[in-house]
Amino acid sequence: MAMDTSGDTTRVDKTERRILLGAALCVAASLALIGYATWGLGINVPACVPTSKLFDQPSVVKHEGKNYEIHYVARMWDFQPPLVRVPTGSTLDLYAVTKDVTHGLLIAGTNVNLMLVPGAVANTRVHFSRPGTYTILCHEYCGVAHQNMAARIEVTDEVSDIFAAGLAAPGSPGKKVLDDKGCLACHSVDGSAGLAPTLKGIWGTTVELSDGTKRTVDAEFVGQLLHDPSKYVIKGYPPVMPDLRLSDQEIQQIEDYLKGLK
Ligand code: CUA
Repeated sequence: MAMDTSGDTTRVDKTERRILLGAALCVAASLALIGYATWGLGINVPACVPTSKLFDQPSVVKHEGKNYEIHYVARMWDFQPPLVRVPTGSTLDLYAVTKDVTHGLLIAGTNVNLMLVPGAVANTRVHFSRPGTYTILCHEYCGVAHQNMAARIEVTDEVSDIFAAGLAAPGSPGKKVLDDKGCLACHSVDGSAGLAPTLKGIWGTTVELSDGTKRTVDAEFVGQLLHDPSKYVIKGYPPVMPDLRLSDQEIQQIEDYLKGLK
């Protein structure tokens, strides 16, 4: 005896078709509502945070009174802006993103303690009722110069408005390359010590490499070093310089900047 299953099959098909139709209607209805909210009611539909340009760059925003917004950008191995000065009694809305790996952001002496995870914006509010220098530290191990990763907030009666250092990277294109590539986390340009030699006055000097050879810091040597940093470790410093894959033009800009950095 053959079973007649044609009736069942049709019923399943019908149910399936109804579910599909229902799902399509739901999608169409929500798209129509989003469209109506945007064009009909003029409501701004928020963009997805990772595609929003608002937090891409370090910046400060002034609001009424002593209320400010600071947008921090963290990367290996610094925070930007590195120094912010605000009047005593300020309330700061802090927003922070990371450009690379996960970093931490804590402000010593306050209860601010954020995790900066790639693709997300961390945010908190902090009020400074007393003057002082507050240190921002990275508390998540993020690589060889993790312990150097710090910034400062100065709270003082001596200013009437917010000031942030180093927001518009001024100066030469070479300085901008060094800044953009994160070189300045290890190399200072003012003679102070770091994880790598200071760049101040380095042009034209002789340096000793870890294998004992001596090289003059000129266009030839800087070009070779920047193309393959692992081969040229300066004696007395850890071999931590990454290959930044700089273009010839960027290397030229860096050289021009170093020549003038007396
Ligand atoms: Cu950033 Cu540790």
